[in-house]
Amino acid sequence: MNVKKRIDELISQLKQYNYEYYTQDNPSVTDQEYDALMNELIQLETLYPDLKREDSPTMRVGDTVLDSFEKVTHDIPMMSLSNAFNKEDLYDFDKRIQKVVGKQQYTAEVKIDGLAGALQYENRKFVLAATRGNGTVGEDVTHNVKTIRSIPLTIEYPDDLEVRGEIFMSKRSFEKANKRRKETGKAPFMNPRNAASGSIRQLDSKIAAKRELDMFIYSIMAPLKHGITSHYDALMFAKKLGFHVNPLTERFDTIDEVITFVEEMTERRDTLSYDIDGVVIKVDDIRLYDDIGVTAKSPKWAIAYKFPAEEVLTQIQDIVFQVGRTGQITPVANLNPVLVQGSMVARATLHNEDYIKEKDIRQYDTVVIQKAGDIIPEVVRVVKERRTGNEEVFEMIAHCPVCNKPIERKDSEAAYFCVNPNCDAKRMNGLIHFVSRDAMNIDGLGARIIEQFYNDGLIRSIPDIYRLKDHRSELVLKEGFGQKSIEKLLESIEASKDNNLDVLLFGLGIRHVGAKVSRVLAAEFETINQLMETSEESLKDINEIGDVIAKSVVNYFSQQAHRDMIDTLQELGVNTQYRAKKQENNDRFEGKTFVLTGKLEMYTRKEAKTLIEQLGGKVTSSVSGNTDVLLAGSDAGSKLDKAENIGVKIIDEATFKAWID
Ligand code: IVH
Repeated sequence: MNVKKRIDELISQLKQYNYEYYTQDNPSVTDQEYDALMNELIQLETLYPDLKREDSPTMRVGDTVLDSFEKVTHDIPMMSLSNAFNKEDLYDFDKRIQKVVGKQQYTAEVKIDGLAGALQYENRKFVLAATRGNGTVGEDVTHNVKTIRSIPLTIEYPDDLEVRGEIFMSKRSFEKANKRRKETGKAPFMNPRNAASGSIRQLDSKIAAKRELDMFIYSIMAPLKHGITSHYDALMFAKKLGFHVNPLTERFDTIDEVITFVEEMTERRDTLSYDIDGVVIKVDDIRLYDDIGVTAKSPKWAIAYKFPAEEVLTQIQDIVFQVGRTGQITPVANLNPVLVQGSMVARATLHNEDYIKEKDIRQYDTVVIQKAGDIIPEVVRVVKERRTGNEEVFEMIAHCPVCNKPIERKDSEAAYFCVNPNCDAKRMNGLIHFVSRDAMNIDGLGARIIEQFYNDGLIRSIPDIYRLKDHRSELVLKEGFGQKSIEKLLESIEASKDNNLDVLLFGLGIRHVGAKVSRVLAAEFETINQLMETSEESLKDINEIGDVIAKSVVNYFSQQAHRDMIDTLQELGVNTQYRAKKQENNDRFEGKTFVLTGKLEMYTRKEAKTLIEQLGGKVTSSVSGNTDVLLAGSDAGSKLDKAENIGVKIIDEATFKAWID
């Protein structure tokens, strides 16, 4: 027998059966026949390891155990979608689109409730899978994604290709996994989404392999490069390459037809074998995407219709108060736990004193709670008919529940604040914010660990994070930490010293200074020292900066404690300059001439210009034969036409951000 030939034969048969079973949902052989062929292949590969092919279906069993996840920077950021909650929102979306690009066809697809994943193929081979992470940087989960049987390990397409989609667990596999967990005394997963994301974040791919994950592909990246101009066609192309594409995908001529589809899916939702939480609607003509543009977080050519939030009745046991990093005090209801949309809800926000008074929410009231998607559950209304007379009328507290200092309410705000700078809750939540994903993004230092280290006295301030390495011997003795995990944690902390100034500024948690304002400030001032010395007036000269932000920034840096902290961070080696992360890439735009046009959402013109110049490029005001790149925001006009005519490379903001990142 020619072993190689037999292995090839088995692989191609098993691939075909896999495809029929997992992608087309239409098997042509029994499980026993499939298993027999698989066992034969495993045996041959064990006897002749040199003949084992990289695309063998046996690679799916999961044989990789990692120490930790590598970070992956997405070339094109993984954005999210803006939401629609009713018909009117969909009509508005249609109107907005028509206004910019005229009447359009739409592709509508069900919105799968899982987690986003990006897959890369090079030389026809699957080479990398990454999670969304914070949209710019995700994690390499190739070893786990390989175990998903509906994902082709090779494709019949010669160009490099990136596809994105939703990784999910079917309702059946969820039941199976929970049955196994119950039998082994483990806590069950709350819902298929949690189960899928827990499985994909396993270091040992054997575990992921057992969880029977699946993935529907919903986009092809850079489709125009692949000669695809319609989103529907992109999905059909993906299907032809062997990817699992959701069959509940249709192209429509009018928004009314889309709305009928939405209504149909709302009806069919419970009959599907996997969870969906809405319908995604996308303009079909991809060539128009640049013209339609993006906002800071989401493209304007797509929208996610979210199914109505489920409302559930429960009783308020208690009203407690949480203190956030800014000192804001939020009343929270502790509830009799109830299941809402597959997850157990035991707490709901009551927002602020006015909200409670307006709805007359009282302790022991029976209330309607609602949870939509990832939004924190909230108390919608009180069921007054259920009152017994034992309910307690709400009274706002006068002192911080953590530090016991008096709290204050400013005239213009609904919330009360704890103004004690040394309040433990504020300090701890400030630290949690500093290390969080959109700020310094320090892996392994989540809220619970910060809380533990804070209470142990190991981390009481931001600089303490960078001094943690002096406590190695103490750390390894802590329960739940091994030598390896401590080394990893310290490595992530060290790596974060190299972060750009904007994320550092955001991490400081200056009031009113969010991610975008941090970028504006970092680009404008370039070093933290220059920002520290600036006046309210010069801050207000910047387009995006108004009175409130300017005051807040100056106030923050006028405090000696904050200035000392910045000094200490600099001494500890934390970068406080605005620069591209990789020094060697600092001249990436050397010799390139850019023109900016249209309305930019993520950057100001000035900010974009500074970034280009910092990377060695030049910005001019009009498009000519000397222009290399046109950065086009929304509502771009004649410059865009001209650039198209003379064949200048045109990029949108998302691509620009990816280049910069
Ligand atoms: S398109 C630019 N299509 O929903 C974003 N997303 O709220 C392109 N999702 O992060 C996403 N099903 O993980 C798209 N058919 C579908 C989807 C889908 C689920 C998820 C996706 C995204 C989130 C946005």
